[in-house]
Amino acid sequence: MKLNIAVLPGDGIGPEVMDQALKVVRAISEKFGHTLHTETALTGACAIDAVGDPYPEATHELCMRSDAVLYGAIGSPKYDNDPTARVRPEHGLLAMRKKLGLYANIRPVTTFPSLLDRSPLRADLVEGVDFVCVRELTGGLYFGRPQGRSEDGRVAYDTCVYSREEIERIVRLAYGYAMKRRRHLTVVDKANVLATSRLWREVAQEVAQEFPGVETEYMFVDNAAMRLIQWPKSFDVVVTENMFGDILTDEASVISGSLGLLPSASVGLHTSLFEPIHGSYPQAAGRNIANPLAMILSAAMMFEYAFDLPDEGAAIRRAVDASMAAGIVTEDIAPKGAKTYGTSEVGDWIAAHVAQ
Ligand code: IPM
Ligand code: MG
Repeated sequence: MKLNIAVLPGDGIGPEVMDQALKVVRAISEKFGHTLHTETALTGACAIDAVGDPYPEATHELCMRSDAVLYGAIGSPKYDNDPTARVRPEHGLLAMRKKLGLYANIRPVTTFPSLLDRSPLRADLVEGVDFVCVRELTGGLYFGRPQGRSEDGRVAYDTCVYSREEIERIVRLAYGYAMKRRRHLTVVDKANVLATSRLWREVAQEVAQEFPGVETEYMFVDNAAMRLIQWPKSFDVVVTENMFGDILTDEASVISGSLGLLPSASVGLHTSLFEPIHGSYPQAAGRNIANPLAMILSAAMMFEYAFDLPDEGAAIRRAVDASMAAGIVTEDIAPKGAKTYGTSEVGDWIAAHVAQ
């Protein structure tokens, strides 16, 4: 198969972890006989510095003509500490989501046996946790208009907007995942307060009729935030709107004990995108200490979701598990006192392992 991949390394540790994922993608492609074509483009703070736009048109064109996008991370302290900056790296991310029609963000949350004691939760609560968050990504408060300030600057406003169509397509997608998993879907909203949430619940109840084999549960977002900590094993697939999903997925991401391990996929109308959920971690940039596993696992998701090549994805996952079992890991997940490895050594080891 021909694999046309757009590579957007971004800022901070993005380029380093991307290099490792590409080593693994190359090794897998060779082993399974795929023809790999990658092209790299600018995004994030480095794109602002180079061309004044965090998601340049040339980058968008590359994404549109590719079969999948591998995305590192964006962000720079230069912009984080300047609330008056008119162009920000995050604007590029939002523009990209909108222009590629990436309306669904999929974040699997699983735990790794060797890391159970790193979770802030008790090991018995965490062991066996395995759920997927499906977050709506191109609507709600992030994109609703009007948004802004009053003329005197003393009042600010954001608008939460959702249409039936936007809700229906994401809820249906979530049911699709539930059907392939344990057939349990939690619809998270704030229907006791918000009009958009009441529409979510109404539409979700309609779509539920089409999936009688799936057990549907409706939960207010505050309760869901609590349940994620109290009983994370009770979830299978969770679907929710943009802002709630942003918050709940960060909460969910710490359950497994390390942010450096969790991949994500964004899918929608055009090319799908695969990225680690961690940020650009500027303090670690260039030091060969960043954990490349989330980026490598994002590449595994790419094989599974974008190319429908589950064997390739599984081979990458096995190699990642093997590297952890062998203790070939970066310092953030190494047991106390154990030898630790650099970003590129972990990448080399996994690439060599998948090639076997
Ligand atoms: C995420 C991030 C982004 C978001 C930021 C960087 C704009 O937090 O992908 O979850 O809020 O969606
Ligand atoms: Mg977030």
